[in-house]
Amino acid sequence: MRFGTELLRQSDVLAQFTEDAPRVTRTYLSKQHRQAGEYLIGLMRAAGMSADFDALGNIVGRYEAAEPDAPVVMTGSHQDSVRNAGKYDGLFGIITAIACVKDLHERDLRLPYTLEIVGFGDEEGVRFGATLIGSKAMAGRFDPAWLDKTDDAGVTMRQALADFGGDPDRWREVDRRGKNVIAYVESHIEQGPVLLNEGLPVGVVTAIAGGTRLNARVTGLAGHAGTVPMGARQDALAAASEMVLFVERHCETHAGLVGTVGKMSVQPGAINVIPQEVLFTIDVRSGDDALRRAAVTAIRAGCAEIARRRRVAVDLADFFTADAAPCDAKLQDAFAQAIAAHGIPVRHLQSGAGHDAMEFPAVAPTAMLFVRCGNNGISHHPDETMTAEDADIGTSVLLHFFENYRP
Ligand code: GLV
Ligand code: MN
Ligand code: MN
Repeated sequence: MRFGTELLRQSDVLAQFTEDAPRVTRTYLSKQHRQAGEYLIGLMRAAGMSADFDALGNIVGRYEAAEPDAPVVMTGSHQDSVRNAGKYDGLFGIITAIACVKDLHERDLRLPYTLEIVGFGDEEGVRFGATLIGSKAMAGRFDPAWLDKTDDAGVTMRQALADFGGDPDRWREVDRRGKNVIAYVESHIEQGPVLLNEGLPVGVVTAIAGGTRLNARVTGLAGHAGTVPMGARQDALAAASEMVLFVERHCETHAGLVGTVGKMSVQPGAINVIPQEVLFTIDVRSGDDALRRAAVTAIRAGCAEIARRRRVAVDLADFFTADAAPCDAKLQDAFAQAIAAHGIPVRHLQSGAGHDAMEFPAVAPTAMLFVRCGNNGISHHPDETMTAEDADIGTSVLLHFFENYRP
């Protein structure tokens, strides 16, 4: 097999750079992020590219064009992972692109554009709560206030960047707007079952769903679990539970919406104490921005009503919003042609997951290629799978795109 077996082997190597083996967890600016980055830089250099970390811990590799001063096409995906992740989310988009360059280099072929492969340091937002840090910085949307955000151990992003060997004060240099970038394309495992159910190895993404993320704080009144009568309680967790169900019900009853509460903490957190305070997150997504905004308004109103009725306080603060990002029509056509050239029916589909690509329309026309996800399409889970055959086809399609794309 031309690419697939080797790509799955590299994925297994990368999975060893984890903070909590045997699970895969690799957060932004961790020691394991550095190790994965060094491994990827090694692959890039062996493939004929120049490569290094940038000031924010992204890795950037360049395969120079045939002519000097040629425009730049960017590709890549993220190096970080969620907690207890699969092996392909993000990393596949980096290694598949490196495999393409290695193939071009071995055939002594240069492109009419410089190809840059980026391994974004943070896309998942697990460590500092800020999401898409690398791609936002490249799209000119880095917020320097993020440098003061802290992780669960109280380490600031500024400190973590300095410890990593980056430079928090040089974040402006990462901005790629106005730097002759003519396209950004990203290959990614689908993370859902659409291609699997239709028996297709690859598909063209039409748009990436937008999302809003909120931090919720519910404040009640702690008390003795044995003495406070049921009707007299201000139980923050019982109220929060009703709010979680409200989010679920609202999103279930409005087609085109998904909503998730994925994180919750209870204080003081003792079996015999009525909960005083609950913190939880809400993640709402849709391909339709108006529908998502209306859902956030409804969730705010629903939580306020539950809080009033239960005599607790609730505060909902949104900390991340991304509008849906349509993919460029011409680049979609170019991917469709590359797929058709492999004798595969062309399937267009929307992405429900967020991706680094959603930030790039601010830099250049953007598109995405999806590669089939096995195992019922499960992802953000250790059972995420991709076959060597699909990795092979996905890489061959991407290579066809690179070889045929003309500025
Ligand atoms: C990233 O994987 C996201 O969609 O949350
Ligand atoms: Mn992910
Ligand atoms: Mn991803």
